[in-house]
Amino acid sequence: MAEVHETLDNLMQENRTFPPSPAFVTEANATAAIYDEAEADRLGFWAKQARGLDWDTDFTEVLDWSNAPFAKWFVGGKLNVAYNCVDRHVLSGHGDQIAIRFEGEPGDQINITYRELMDQVCKAANAITELGVSAGDRVAIYMPMIPEAVVAMLACARVGAVHSVVFAGFSAEALRSRIEDAQAKLVITADGQNRRGSVMSLKPAVDEAVAASPSVNNVLVVRRCGNDIAWGEKDVWWHEFVANQSPEHTPIAFDSEHPLFILYTSGTTGKPKGILHTTGGYLTQVSYTHRVVFDLKPDTDVFWCTADIGWVTGHSYIVYGPLANRVTQVIYEGTPDTPGKDRWWDIIQRHGVTILYTAPTAIRTFMKWGDEFPQAYDLSSLRLLGSVGEPINPEAWMWYRSVIGGNNCPIVDTWWQTETGGMMISPLPGVTATKPGSAMRALPGIGMAVVDDAGTPLGNGHGGFLVLTEPWPAMLRGIWGDNQRFIDTYWSKWPQFYFAGDGAKLDNDGALWLLGRVDDVMNVSGHRISTTEVESALVSHPSVAEAAVVGAADETTGQAIVAFVILRGGMEGDDGTTLVTELRNHVATEIGAIAKPKKIMIVPELPKTRSGKILRRLLQDVAEHRSVGDSTTLADPAVMNLISAGLESSSADD
Ligand code: WT7
Repeated sequence: MAEVHETLDNLMQENRTFPPSPAFVTEANATAAIYDEAEADRLGFWAKQARGLDWDTDFTEVLDWSNAPFAKWFVGGKLNVAYNCVDRHVLSGHGDQIAIRFEGEPGDQINITYRELMDQVCKAANAITELGVSAGDRVAIYMPMIPEAVVAMLACARVGAVHSVVFAGFSAEALRSRIEDAQAKLVITADGQNRRGSVMSLKPAVDEAVAASPSVNNVLVVRRCGNDIAWGEKDVWWHEFVANQSPEHTPIAFDSEHPLFILYTSGTTGKPKGILHTTGGYLTQVSYTHRVVFDLKPDTDVFWCTADIGWVTGHSYIVYGPLANRVTQVIYEGTPDTPGKDRWWDIIQRHGVTILYTAPTAIRTFMKWGDEFPQAYDLSSLRLLGSVGEPINPEAWMWYRSVIGGNNCPIVDTWWQTETGGMMISPLPGVTATKPGSAMRALPGIGMAVVDDAGTPLGNGHGGFLVLTEPWPAMLRGIWGDNQRFIDTYWSKWPQFYFAGDGAKLDNDGALWLLGRVDDVMNVSGHRISTTEVESALVSHPSVAEAAVVGAADETTGQAIVAFVILRGGMEGDDGTTLVTELRNHVATEIGAIAKPKKIMIVPELPKTRSGKILRRLLQDVAEHRSVGDSTTLADPAVMNLISAGLESSSADD
């Protein structure tokens, strides 16, 4: 973690603090008192948050931790998630409130009220029931950012089916392996999506995946782009089949611990982990955090979370948290530079967005594009800004605050994970004086510590590993089909703590600074990709004998993927350029374009210890153009010279 500490030392010189304005404080949903309240009675505090939902049957126990690390929250309670996100708002007289202000990339727009959303969810629930889906069955969702994606997720929740949303940028093979792991019965998809001004077909990847997936009985297809697609026996059109269903559907109340969804995320091995979330605790925490961290005012705010529903941020802060809180929100289909680099600012001005939640990688991209794009618009509707996915550097934070927020919006830097389900560490916008680049402190109800290798909590001014010290309502309930891996990954380093995999430091004031992953997981544009996963993809190419992958610091994406590859005998051929292109495309086919290495270096050897472990740290030095660190533990110390020499003749990037 040497590098990590250097970064921190820079951050430590950051002494500016930004308290919320008195006007914001007066109106804020959350006051400092909730820290004390949660401290005094943690479980009572969570029970109170849970009672903000509509329970069909009240719970009898807040937490059952007797079978740790498998938690049960709100034991005995029964509720329906879709009812809580939609029906209850209609029943309380808000049926005409707009739930979704959708904008397609080509400029098409549609407003969907809560009443209309309820009708659509009910029809979709009836449709998937007719297709043989019942409670507990798994449904894969591979869709663009269109309202039907939200409807599909809510329809699953309504009938108790477990959705597994697969990011539409993933390849056919990635989709297939996730369908197989979950044994999905149904796939919901679209013909295509609009990206960068053209239609990107989605259905062919589904066709390829489904052809190799015996568990799938049907494919429900939304017609989004009207592009030509192949049509098979299992395929059903959404606009015919769903539209013709009855808009009446009685929600069934499910047990608080009924599975709600699986979401795959990268771990330190090649096989993605199916993170399992359940019903009552998850909905409690995402609605609570959405209300206090974003200070949501359902009657006046226009919320915009720019994430994709393929990631957990889209699940928790587009679908479940916001809708449970009766949000009015923007959903945008496309890329930020289509038709121009001002698209987001245009959207904010036209829709009057008040709360913006996005990722540091996007903020840094906009910084690079130039202030003139946001400055051409009136962004004064904004009153709060959020950041998520990776550490935000103080420069980007300050730019976000001044250029986007007009020095007038609190910034909430929210730390959490696919596994945590909801936010864990974040300022409270009406309470916390924020420091640019710090996620500040654990939210009320959350137990967090920074510990050393022995698991001993460290005081202010020290860096170590981030752990969560108490179970929390939205915590993962396991890894789909692999409970041993759940225990090994998160609960074996220190059995009493959840190990998050992040390094962190408490500054002298007790503010928390995240330092990035401490395991072999990269963070590229806020997306987790495991080094092993990319290595396996590379080695599956016939030319590759061995591969080592590292994440190298990158100004825009946080980390960039750099691969070191040893070719099989006789494969060298040309100068390597063609092969490098081929290998990059091969990774895209195996995993998806987001996992394409930015740089591939063909090398004669890899640095290994005597026990055969690749010393990625040394490769990272090379990838980040530093002088190579301590290589005394190498089996063959001459290897690093070989690599450096080899690089001069064979490195290629594009
Ligand atoms: C990892 C989780 C949380 C939804 C998006 C990513 C990093 C996340 C922050 C933040 C510093 C952050 C961590 C974490 N991360 N938010 N505010 N500051 N790092 O979800 O794909 O499960 O990734 O993202 O390294 O472990 P994910």
